[in-house]
Amino acid sequence: MTQRAPVGSRRLVLLVPAGLALVAGLDGALLLLGLPAPVQTDRLPQVHGPLMVLGFVGTLIALERAVALGRRPAFAAPALLGAGGLLLLAPLPVAVGQGAQLAGTLAYGGLYVAIWRRQQAAPVAVQALGAVLAVGASGLWLAGVAVPDLAPFLVGFLVLTIAGERLELLRVGFPPPHAEPVVVGASLALACAVPAALLWPRAGYPAFGACLLALVVALVRYDVARRMVRASGLPRFSALAMLTGYGWLAVAGSIWLAVGRVPAGRGYDAVLHAVFLGFVLSMVMAHAPVILPAVLRRPLPYRPAMLVPLAALHATLVLRVLVGDAHGSTAAVQGGGVGNILAVLGFLGLAVHGTLRTQASA
Ligand code: HEM
Repeated sequence: MTQRAPVGSRRLVLLVPAGLALVAGLDGALLLLGLPAPVQTDRLPQVHGPLMVLGFVGTLIALERAVALGRRPAFAAPALLGAGGLLLLAPLPVAVGQGAQLAGTLAYGGLYVAIWRRQQAAPVAVQALGAVLAVGASGLWLAGVAVPDLAPFLVGFLVLTIAGERLELLRVGFPPPHAEPVVVGASLALACAVPAALLWPRAGYPAFGACLLALVVALVRYDVARRMVRASGLPRFSALAMLTGYGWLAVAGSIWLAVGRVPAGRGYDAVLHAVFLGFVLSMVMAHAPVILPAVLRRPLPYRPAMLVPLAALHATLVLRVLVGDAHGSTAAVQGGGVGNILAVLGFLGLAVHGTLRTQASA
């Protein structure tokens, strides 16, 4: 009992920097959209991308992994990633936050060494590949490589982490024996395409897009989500979030395959947020009612109201990407972008309210 209390509070403390990274990242998003924001600084738009990917989502994932591993040193990874996000926001040279993020991703990679010793399985290997790309992203950013050139690393980190998670759950649906090698093969190809995109952009980006598409096809083919969508309640909610997420990942893969490198402008906005909002945040929503209770040891019961922010996220992303970015409409990009922010905040509000309500009634 005496041992468990501090671990629980440590988890809560580590959620705070992740939450701050999200809120600051959303503020920076408003500035990037060219709109007024509650806090106006030059730093926020400058660090929006790495803050969201490593500071917010990275800290959450590392925290979940550390909890699953159950060892105190494992919490260094979420602590350093969270600190990295906060230091990026502080009035210090950006390199200080970048250095902490690099230390965080190295510690995160170390988690997989420990996990691999316990469980030598394909899903762990796929997630470890994602961790290697996270180290690459943070190391190259500190070394001065610009964020647009790091996009495949950031995308590869989160896509492979989620693919590994889905691969683990594949077995529930009794897939054919070749399902696992197919997903692992597509993941490995994607990991190889990431440095190729940096070194040989002309061929590397279309290859990266093709690998993303291959991975989506492999995952959709065998993911239990296709069957769960006919269920009800949480399984149906999660399946809807996952299948729409796969759809957005296919959009991003198609853009990179057809257009190649898109380092700026409408295509850049479209391809990045098809992945990060359409795929990643949809997956975060899909898994939140299962993962948050595991992290916080507090239940987060599914509520049908959760469908509202999920639907809003996808509808406003259609407005932003398929109307605004595709047809050069600034108003649609801005309207869709604000809608994305409200959808994310709406889901966050429901998650916090749901957790506090069950805690109060416990
Ligand atoms: C919730 C609503 C969000 C809005 C409104 C938003 C808005 C924007 C805008 C307007 C840009 C600039 C695009 C351009 O240069 O054409 C941008 C860049 C970016 N965003 Fe977001 N974003 C959001 C969420 C996210 C999330 C959740 C992630 C990652 C998990 C993310 C990752 C990135 C990255 C990596 C960049 C590139 C930054 C750079 O080049 O320095 N965004 N975002």
